[in-house]
Amino acid sequence: MRRPRRLRISKNIRDSLSEVDIRRNQLISGLFIVEGSNVKREIKTMPGIYQMSMDIAVKEVSDCLELGISNFMIFGVPNNKTFLGEGAWDKLGTVPNTLSELKNNFGKEVTLFADVCLCEYTDHGHCGILDNNGYVQNDLSLDSLAKAALTYAEAGADWVAPSNMMDLRVISIRKILDDNGFHNTSILSYSAKFASNYYGPFRDAANSAPMFADRTEYQLDYRGYRQALYELKSDEIQGADALMVKPALAYLDIVQRARQQTDLPLFVYNVSGEYSMVKIAANNGLIDERKIVIENLTAMRRAGADMIISYHAKDVAKNNWIM
Ligand code: PBG
Ligand code: ZN
Repeated sequence: MRRPRRLRISKNIRDSLSEVDIRRNQLISGLFIVEGSNVKREIKTMPGIYQMSMDIAVKEVSDCLELGISNFMIFGVPNNKTFLGEGAWDKLGTVPNTLSELKNNFGKEVTLFADVCLCEYTDHGHCGILDNNGYVQNDLSLDSLAKAALTYAEAGADWVAPSNMMDLRVISIRKILDDNGFHNTSILSYSAKFASNYYGPFRDAANSAPMFADRTEYQLDYRGYRQALYELKSDEIQGADALMVKPALAYLDIVQRARQQTDLPLFVYNVSGEYSMVKIAANNGLIDERKIVIENLTAMRRAGADMIISYHAKDVAKNNWIM
């Protein structure tokens, strides 16, 4: 008689038969860049995660490289916000400065992803340009987003990562990059980005919460998966080099379907709320941080993710939670 427990009878056989694992180079660490120098400020809602100025970010990246973490997602936290969010494409802004500084220091040893959105730069906190009724205007926003993406590519971003959920953002970014000779700059689209309550701590970190209403007119409604699959397909057709599902944990069904639908690399974003729930529970002795983090990240890989953007990346590498 077949007895499935035989396949779990020793650690050696369990390890030998395991189907998924996590490598350091599958993790992407997020960095929140503020203006000034020698600034390192812990984010209240995200214990262990800091806003940092460019000089500190260089040290952070150097530390991470020693630990085997070589992929970074860069977010800007500007002092000045405006109605149109012009800061997003300011060539002298903190994000372009940091991108070129990191490239000068580390070259191809690091892969830099630049988040492309307006919400950190607009005074109203929405991801695009508003009309008089507070509606985010799609095509007008595309021009700004494309300018921002080009600015980051010029500064040294290896990948630009539009997170704004405007229709046709990928094709418009691809066009401006190609028109300016940036054929080798890749696009990671936040394709299936849901209007999620798990982004709360990030909005604290990036100071980017919308001043009125919410993002449900552009981010996906979580009561379904079909629109998500369409967004993924659409971004693929528009020329995205890789696709993303976000958040991760409550959306692994979407990840699995996305994996079945596309042959492009698939990323997931283990978002701020997911991070903080684990971190704060662990800090209070309710769970074993190491075991929970690895279980969560493994589940994302098992669902079909190639790469994972995670605030846990440095802890995972530093404490040798994986090989
Ligand atoms: C900007 C952006 C957000 C996140 C990544 N890029 C916030 C949002 O859409 O409100 C969320 C990341 C996280 O929660 O960790 N559009
Ligand atoms: Zn945004």
